Amino acid sequence: MATAVSPSVVPDTAATPSTEGALLGTYKRAPMRIVRGEGVTLYDEDGRAYLDLASGIAVNALGYGDAGIARAVQESLDTGLVHVSNLFRTEPGERLAQWMVDHSFAARAFFCNSGAEANEGAFKFARRWARTLVPAGAEEAPGPFGTCPKHEIISLRGAFHGRTMGVLAATDRAQYRAPFRPLAGGISIAERDIKELDATLDAERVCAVIVEPVQGEGGVRVVDHGLLRELRAMTAERRIALVFDEIQCGLGRLGTLFAYETTGVVPDMITLAKPLAGGLPMGAVLVNADIAAAVQPGDHGTTFGGGPLVANVALHVCERLGDPALLAHVREVGAWFGDALRAMAARTGRVRAVRGAGLMWGVDTHEPAGQIVARARDAGLLILTAGDHTLRLLPPLVISRDDLARGLETIERIITEGPQS
Ligand SMILES: Cc1ncc(COP(=O)(O)O)c(C=O)c1O
Repeated sequence: MATAVSPSVVPDTAATPSTEGALLGTYKRAPMRIVRGEGVTLYDEDGRAYLDLASGIAVNALGYGDAGIARAVQESLDTGLVHVSNLFRTEPGERLAQWMVDHSFAARAFFCNSGAEANEGAFKFARRWARTLVPAGAEEAPGPFGTCPKHEIISLRGAFHGRTMGVLAATDRAQYRAPFRPLAGGISIAERDIKELDATLDAERVCAVIVEPVQGEGGVRVVDHGLLRELRAMTAERRIALVFDEIQCGLGRLGTLFAYETTGVVPDMITLAKPLAGGLPMGAVLVNADIAAAVQPGDHGTTFGGGPLVANVALHVCERLGDPALLAHVREVGAWFGDALRAMAARTGRVRAVRGAGLMWGVDTHEPAGQIVARARDAGLLILTAGDHTLRLLPPLVISRDDLARGLETIERIITEGPQS
């Protein structure tokens, strides 16, 4: 039943036309409604097909209609278990954690429900660990923050780590931050510059640095591996946790299972989400043995984290994404795609730069990227932006070279139709 609302708070729907019905307007959605997917193609309710070079923003790594995902869901449903509380043991979550440990540097895995939540977890684990490092008594000493002195968290210029209240302070996008100030304390952003990091990373105050090895939302920027190596040495010496946010660039996207494998650096924690459970909401924090030893029952938790259904699906997805043949495919078609994008840039003269690795590419354009994305959609191609003048291409990892070539042809045509500069 509708409740009476004072006229002053009745939304002015005429001023904000919406195609989204009752959904809160947190997204500017494209007008078509997606009703079906198959392989690398989505279909709208009018039967129009769209080649997907966006993968639900790096989620649908296996494309649409993957039979293994359907099997894994059904297997779980057959047990009658969608959810079991974390107060009890279940097999899929334990197997998934073991898989993660067997395939990475990590000693333990924590499961949650999204990327932002994974980063929140990593921040808490870093602070928890840091408390074990300071002299006895110092952890509760009244200081300017009334808390453990070694608590500060540093992220890098251009970073995106999510939008919940804690990690928002580590996300470097003015329009996401400004309306929600004051942001969480003890979290700040440093330049991607080793000299500034050297000055910022005070061993007594800083407990963690978080880095996306390839910044996604920030413009598809591969963080310099030399900088990462120096940062690793510096953080190890100062007992600061190095956290890699691999939520967008991990799990096969760069052609290795984990993004850190491309950098020559082993972090202390990594965070995962997006493709992890094939589109079901799931995040993870993988931690090394030292940090694992510091985390105690009650320190953190989440009702749904690592439930049997999502974990069973994630196990299937991880086994597929860890398949050396799939990873080799990503490296091969990814390298081809990068070369083809650069050649297209040279041919058209409408592109300022091409950046990326694996199947994660950014294309800087003269024309506003949003306009190109809209025209691409009209032409049956889904691509993304990463900032005002950067296109972002995140195809499903199973995409063929022919489909990439088809997408590229459309991008070239559309960019060429746009203004010269
Ligand atoms: C690198 C990175 N970290 C964190 C997040 C936040 O993930 P979620 O949207 O699942 O909270 C994203 C999402 O785009 C991301 O790309």
